[in-house]
Amino acid sequence: MNGEHEQIAERPDHDGLTGAAAALSPPSVVPPTRQPAADPPRPGAEPDVALALSEVSKEYPGGILALRAVSVEVRIGEQVAVVGPSGSGKTTLLTVLGTLERPTSGSVVVAGRDVVGLTDGELAGLRAHEIGFVFQGFHLQESMTALDNVANGMLYTGSPARERRRAARAALERVGLAHRVTHRPTELSGGERQRVAIARAIAKRPLIILADEPTGNLDSTSGREVIALLHELAAEGATLTLITHDAAISERFPRHIQMRDGEVVGDERA
Ligand SMILES: Nc1ncnc2c1ncn2[C@@H]1O[C@H](COP(=O)(O)OP(=O)(O)OP(=O)(O)O)[C@@H](O)[C@H]1O
Ligand SMILES: [Mg+2]
Repeated sequence: MNGEHEQIAERPDHDGLTGAAAALSPPSVVPPTRQPAADPPRPGAEPDVALALSEVSKEYPGGILALRAVSVEVRIGEQVAVVGPSGSGKTTLLTVLGTLERPTSGSVVVAGRDVVGLTDGELAGLRAHEIGFVFQGFHLQESMTALDNVANGMLYTGSPARERRRAARAALERVGLAHRVTHRPTELSGGERQRVAIARAIAKRPLIILADEPTGNLDSTSGREVIALLHELAAEGATLTLITHDAAISERFPRHIQMRDGEVVGDERA
């Protein structure tokens, strides 16, 4: 057994994520191989649609309707800000779009695939290749270097360890952290930690980046830098959907989805 397998067996979760975001990922030992690209597009699906929800509702235990018949479509390369009051369903929307939560009803298409009928393992494979997540709380492993955090986030792509480390190094360079690859999160500033998390999200070159208040824990300067970086990365070909409470951030997005009480109440393109 080589080191890579030991690392997979020890890994704390899927997608290199910790905490609640990883909680819904199923346990599995064998990384799924890339599947989305091999699949033909869903019949009738628009070829340039990155994400589509149709009449999606999400009810949490206790009868909380966090999403009420939400229909929304995000095209490849779009940059979308999701705004709305606390409790309006923004994070729920993002976790359903990112397949971390299953909807109670309705259909979800991610990267051309109807995901509702997929198994947990298939969803993990889809996320591993097509979706990069960035969260307010970074979700980094404190005991690991920046390089290992990023490389670990690619475990489920099925790439060999050497390729993961190469991609991780390139991603850290891309976010301006070539000089911090051996630092652990506690040895990094908040802005640098979030850039490590962004490097983890982009190292696998995903079609879709989903970010939930990525500047929420940052000072305004670091926050601006992080947002500028996300805009740049999206301009290089990814699709960005980002939740923010900050009007100064949302106004720089060409499209705004406004949520209230679990519904999309506004969807404007500049
Ligand atoms: N796991 C859960 N179980 C039960 N209810 C939940 C769960 N997660 C969220 N909710 C409820 O669903 C609703 C929507 O929550 P959500 O986290 O999507 O809101 P949000 O718009 O992201 O809010 P915030 O801006 O405060 O982050 C809220 O009423 C919340 O209390
Ligand atoms: Mg939220």
